[in-house]
Amino acid sequence: LLAPAMHTNMWENPATRKNVQTLQARGARFIGPVAGELSSGDRGLGRLAPEEDIYAEVLSVLSTGKWQGKKVMVSAGGTREPLDPVRFLGNRSSGRFGVEIARQFAWQGAQVTLLAANIEPTLLESLPGGVEVVATPSAGKMHQAALDYFPHMQVAVMAAAVADYQPVDFQSEKIKKVPNQQEFSLRLRSTADILADLASKKHSDQLVAGFAAETGSWEQVLQLGKEKARRKGADIIFINQVGTETGFGDIATRVCAVDGEGSEIGQFSGNKPQVATQIVTLVRQQVQ
Ligand code: CTP
Repeated sequence: LLAPAMHTNMWENPATRKNVQTLQARGARFIGPVAGELSSGDRGLGRLAPEEDIYAEVLSVLSTGKWQGKKVMVSAGGTREPLDPVRFLGNRSSGRFGVEIARQFAWQGAQVTLLAANIEPTLLESLPGGVEVVATPSAGKMHQAALDYFPHMQVAVMAAAVADYQPVDFQSEKIKKVPNQQEFSLRLRSTADILADLASKKHSDQLVAGFAAETGSWEQVLQLGKEKARRKGADIIFINQVGTETGFGDIATRVCAVDGEGSEIGQFSGNKPQVATQIVTLVRQQVQ
C-alpha cells in the first residue's frame, strides 16, 4: 500500500504515471495523493491522504474483507435535468455521503459500482481504484443504469438526490429572454422513482436501501422519513435532515435508520465518513 505525496507536476509527470501503472499492475494499492495546499505553497493534487484514511486502508488491506465477493451498487450526487444546452434543474447534493458509503464498501472488499450524478472530480478521484464509476447525470440515465446493473447486485444503496420532475420539452437552442415578460413558466413531468422501482423488483437475496432527505425539526424529519419508508418498499431507509445549513457537503450529520415498516433500527451521528462506516455495518447485519 503506497501513500504518495509530491508536487502536482511530479505526480502528473509521464514517468511517474508509468511507474504508478506498473506498480498497480503488480498489485500495489495507492491511497491518495489528495488535492489541497502543497508544501511549495501551490494548490493541487499531491497532498498525503488523511492519516485516518491511510489507517482505514491499511486495515482493509490486512483484513479478509467482510464484503469480499459481494457486489454492491451505490448512487450518489444530484441529478441535473437539462432545459436547453446551457441550463438545467438541479439540487445542492455534493455526493459526499454516497462516495463515503461506496468507499467503505470497497475498503471492506465489495465490488462496488457507483452511479455518479454530477460529483466533483476530486471526490471521485479519491475513491479506491477498484470502484466502477458509471456517469448518470440525469434521473432518466440513472434509472436506466440502475435497472441494467441491479440484477447482478446483492445490495443497492441509493443515496443520490434524484429530481422528482424533469422539463417536458428539452429546447435544443438556448431559451431566449422575452423583453418585458415578468413571469416565466416551465412545464414539468414526473420522473420514475428509482428506489421504489428497484424495491419492487428485488429478489429475496437482495437488499435495497435508500435515503429520506427531509427538512424541519428532527421530530418532523423522523415522522416524514418513517412515512416515506412505508411508501418506498425498501428494506432500509436512512433518514437525514437537510437544509441550507445541514446535510449537504462536508459537515457533521445525523441519521436514523428505519426498516420498511418505519421502525427504528439504528441512530448514527458524526462526520460523513464515520456515519458511512456505521451505515455499511448496519447493512451487513441486515444482509445476514
Ligand atoms: N429517489 C429515487 N428516484 C426519484 C426520487 C428519489 O430513487 N425519482 C430515491 C433517493 O435516491 C432516495 C429516496 O428515493 O434514496 C428518497 O429521496 P427523497 O428526495 O428524500 O424523497 P422523494 O421520494 O423525492 O420525496 P419528496 O421529494 O417528496 O420528499
